[in-house]
Amino acid sequence: MRKKILAANWKMNLSYADAQAWLTEFKSGNGGMHEVEFRLYAPTLYLHDLAKSEVLSVGAQNVHPSVSGAFTGEVSIPQLTSVGASSVLIGHSERRLYFHETNAFLKDKVNACCQQDFSFIFCCGESLETRQSGEHLDFIKGQLEAAILHLDKAYLPLLTIAYEPIWAIGTGQTADTTQINEVHAYIRQLLEKQFGEEGSHVSILYGGSVTALNAQSIFACQDVDGGLIGGASLNAHTFIELAHCFK
Ligand code: PGA
Repeated sequence: MRKKILAANWKMNLSYADAQAWLTEFKSGNGGMHEVEFRLYAPTLYLHDLAKSEVLSVGAQNVHPSVSGAFTGEVSIPQLTSVGASSVLIGHSERRLYFHETNAFLKDKVNACCQQDFSFIFCCGESLETRQSGEHLDFIKGQLEAAILHLDKAYLPLLTIAYEPIWAIGTGQTADTTQINEVHAYIRQLLEKQFGEEGSHVSILYGGSVTALNAQSIFACQDVDGGLIGGASLNAHTFIELAHCFK
């Protein structure tokens, strides 16, 4: 049985006071949802307080592959661990696009997570142009080959994959279930080809304009094990509502 994961990606949203209020609301509303693993990817400077609450597992939206050193403005895995964070997002399209993170750099981050026993969600997904050219599967394969498929299978328990078509992120234009099924089945096939049986235990999340209105049909897709949620995670009540969309 693969883990069902619902991950909130707040991006650069919510004040500290908003974050505290979110937590209080989440705490009062998530009773009895033990079958879903909730994760919160919050701004780095809130992680310590959010983790202390022990209400849900918290993670960072970014990390540097080095353990320490002269990298002004960056944070390392040991630093994240020391404030109670337990995972990180790697390869989000916004990091690739706006911060020019290359496949090689993402591979370094992945390797650092593995060496330091730190969980991560690896994001992949194509642009609208790539989808329209019909080369989306090859593109996604390239992203996984560059940063994931080299791993020793002993590290797979640290890995979650998120398929996030760039054209669906924050646009309200969710991929349809045929498109989602195609890509998730393809990623599953790549994982199983490379890692055998262990590849079938890796959770694959969908991200891109998931809301309470479309989550039920998305989460019902065979190889969808949860969601990476941006906009709809900023309200704790809405976020919890999504967990009720798993059958
Ligand atoms: P969205 O963002 O749900 O607002 O589309 C998802 C993400 O970027 O992780």
